[in-house]
Amino acid sequence: MNIRVFRTPSDAGIYAASILERVVTSKERPVLGLATGGTVIPVYEAFVNLVRCGLDVSHVTTLNLDEYIGLAPDHPQSYHAFMNEHLFSKVGIPVESTHLPNGIASDLRAECERYNAVIRKNPIDIQILGIGVNGHIGFNEPSHTLITGTHVVNLSAETIKMNARFFQNEEEVPRQAITMGVQSILQAKQIILLAFGAQKAEIIREALNDGIRTDVPASILQLHKDVTVILDEQSARHLDL
Ligand code: GLP
Repeated sequence: MNIRVFRTPSDAGIYAASILERVVTSKERPVLGLATGGTVIPVYEAFVNLVRCGLDVSHVTTLNLDEYIGLAPDHPQSYHAFMNEHLFSKVGIPVESTHLPNGIASDLRAECERYNAVIRKNPIDIQILGIGVNGHIGFNEPSHTLITGTHVVNLSAETIKMNARFFQNEEEVPRQAITMGVQSILQAKQIILLAFGAQKAEIIREALNDGIRTDVPASILQLHKDVTVILDEQSARHLDL
């Protein structure tokens, strides 16, 4: 794995955005796999700056990793709303080229199949990932088994607690989500994993340095041949570099 350590999340975001730019300018029909969460905000800020400086994204397709079940796209804490706020409303990607799972689908099994078909039709050139403090990627939570395709997941108590900061209180955090599975993530041609802050230091060490473990879902990225890990000094402090 290629590990890059930056002084600040903002510096790291600029580097990540430059990798995205390379994909966007080198492919005829680039497909970006996108993530949500505080970590990716500096990446989107830097990417929006590139677009403001002339980067054309009208030919880009995007696929997001996940969405909360029960939150409509216009719910302020939905991942649809997050993407609109931080990226889609600021750049010219055609709305029909942006894809997220539908958290209010009446038939969730059919929605998982629909999303798998979207992924098959649009093979991901580059997938951006954050990491949960428990090692989750997307919403693939620590478990005995990791599921390959898009599926419904019960969020762990730890994830609900961590994500409560985006809601009024912990009670409001949805208990379930719909997420892309680990095989879909691993099929991306290139992966960027980002983590910032001291609270991610231990899980980054476990994900990168220990063996592959289903209770640390991000460790499965060790199987992929083109992963760039983008850290700040705090999240990298338990690695021997
Ligand atoms: C959520 C998302 C993940 C993300 C994680 C980390 O649970 N489903 O895709 O990586 O949060 O979030 P943050 O970047 O806010 O620490």
